[in-house]
Amino acid sequence: MIDILQLVPLRPEVQKELEARYRVHQKADFEKVAGIVRACVTNGHSGPPTDWIDRMPKLEIIGSASVGYDGIPVEYARSKGIPVTNTPEVLNDDVADLAIALMTMTARRLVVADRYVREGDWPKKGEFPLAYRASGKRVGILGMGRIGREIGKRAEAANNSIAYHSRRPVADVPWKHYPALVDLAKNSDFLIVIIPSTPETLKIVNRDVMEALGPTGILVNVARGAVVDEAALVEALQNGKLGGAGLDVFEKEPQVPAALIGMDNVVLAPHVGSGTYETRRAMSQLVLDNLDAHFAGRPLLTEIK
Ligand code: 8YV
Repeated sequence: MIDILQLVPLRPEVQKELEARYRVHQKADFEKVAGIVRACVTNGHSGPPTDWIDRMPKLEIIGSASVGYDGIPVEYARSKGIPVTNTPEVLNDDVADLAIALMTMTARRLVVADRYVREGDWPKKGEFPLAYRASGKRVGILGMGRIGREIGKRAEAANNSIAYHSRRPVADVPWKHYPALVDLAKNSDFLIVIIPSTPETLKIVNRDVMEALGPTGILVNVARGAVVDEAALVEALQNGKLGGAGLDVFEKEPQVPAALIGMDNVVLAPHVGSGTYETRRAMSQLVLDNLDAHFAGRPLLTEIK
């Protein structure tokens, strides 16, 4: 049986199959098994770090149950001839759904509205204050990859006009491309962030971008906390230079700045973009399918290139 190191669990039904086909070792046993493992199962936040890769001389493949891979030294692994696979496509719909939900919930103040009902304010205080519309507006998307397109399609179906920023215009995308992010923000009511976290995109959503979005603008982040300057975000929300935010990701997860927790114009989620039974199962299955392909000598399904 082939030995593998597992840094994160897969969904139980897929985990069972994994354990039927491979000898699975857990992270706590790394020291004991580093010399024999030929594959590593992880996700985009969980490594393995470069020194662990160095200490696994038989490592042939890393399979990640995530689309993002900012927490895996992919270049380093590849330089040692170790391919890394991820899970693109299968989570597009879930992440796009969540982006639209956060946009709508923030604009329509649904979390505050829910609290209004639960806390018995409705009969006491009467009609709930008005909120803002989340359709027929201008939706800017930062990042126009697979998930960006799904977000655009959904926002367009709600009669929003769509524009985007990415390094280069994307060939088969019908929407307006802004070469400068700050110009996109200036011309958007909502800015939805869905770009990978890389050294180039670190805090790309900065104070200028937030202020360009403006006092009635809403920022939605379903990418990575690192791409937004969180301190600047808190400040912009506090001083009214940004209207609101819908956030699924944070700089230091699972820590969320206390200031954000106290704000009614912010909707918070604990990194649940891909968090459905259906999608997490598909992600797990893709990890297993890539491992099976590798060890059967077939081409990998979703290698990060
Ligand atoms: C997480 C994600 O990886 O795919 C990604 O890039 O951010 C998420 O799907 C997931 O929480 C890991 O379990």
